[in-house]
Amino acid sequence: MTLEEIVTKSSGMVFFGGAGVSTESGIPDFRSEDGLYRQKYDVSPEVMLSASYFYAHPEEFFRFYREKMLPLHAKPNAAHKKLADWERAGKLLAVVTQNIDGLHQAAGSKTVYELHGSVHRNYCTKCRVFYSAEEIASGTGVPRCRCGGTIKPDVVLYGEPLDAATVEGAVRAIERADTLIVAGTSLTVYPAAGFIDYFRGDRLVLINRDATPLDGKCTLVVRGKVGEVLGELPSFLS
Ligand code: APR
Repeated sequence: MTLEEIVTKSSGMVFFGGAGVSTESGIPDFRSEDGLYRQKYDVSPEVMLSASYFYAHPEEFFRFYREKMLPLHAKPNAAHKKLADWERAGKLLAVVTQNIDGLHQAAGSKTVYELHGSVHRNYCTKCRVFYSAEEIASGTGVPRCRCGGTIKPDVVLYGEPLDAATVEGAVRAIERADTLIVAGTSLTVYPAAGFIDYFRGDRLVLINRDATPLDGKCTLVVRGKVGEVLGELPSFLS
């Protein structure tokens, strides 16, 4: 079956995505040649994005975070837009994403399970008051709440658990899906990569530029750019 035949035949798809879904919006991924984790730093980005580093070295954390993790200029690309169309057309149940950039919601998607949180939610660690990504981006140094507490981005840092309600929603959607489309992810970070195992449906599709551990288990593997590939498919809106 072609990808177009698969999406036409499906009525309850779920999309599981990673950083490769946002590279066509100008946001580098992590593990490709030009990915964030390939860039040279005194302290490795995986260490700087850990909870222990956040609490031990907040100044350095926020310097890296503002420089590399707040792409507020980025716009949704054809992949984000087509997924929002499919949700509106009643073809897509949910997006499950490892990304924290909020581009799926910016494109109009409503049911989005952000396994690793979002840069658009920031809370005081003391009084839980909410702050926007713009407020964090426009400040300098360690962002402080009016109460004096440190403001922390609502993103899952290495060493932190995933949000239980998000996990439950994502698992339930994947279990109900008739087609699961996995795209733009190296499937190397757990527990996120393990969510694929909850899929019980008929058609497992992978759209990824490079090979992944899932390739051999798919109904269809599309080696390409997910924005271009989804951009060529019907929206099913009319
Ligand atoms: N179209 C399709 N695939 C792409 C594209 C694209 N335009 N751009 C990149 N890719 C592929 C790359 O080939 C790579 O296999 O997307 C994958 C991105 O893999 P990673 O950089 O490892 O990103 P991801 O899988 O999302 O990482 C998971 O790691 O550090 C953590 O929390 C971080 O959520 C992230 C997690």
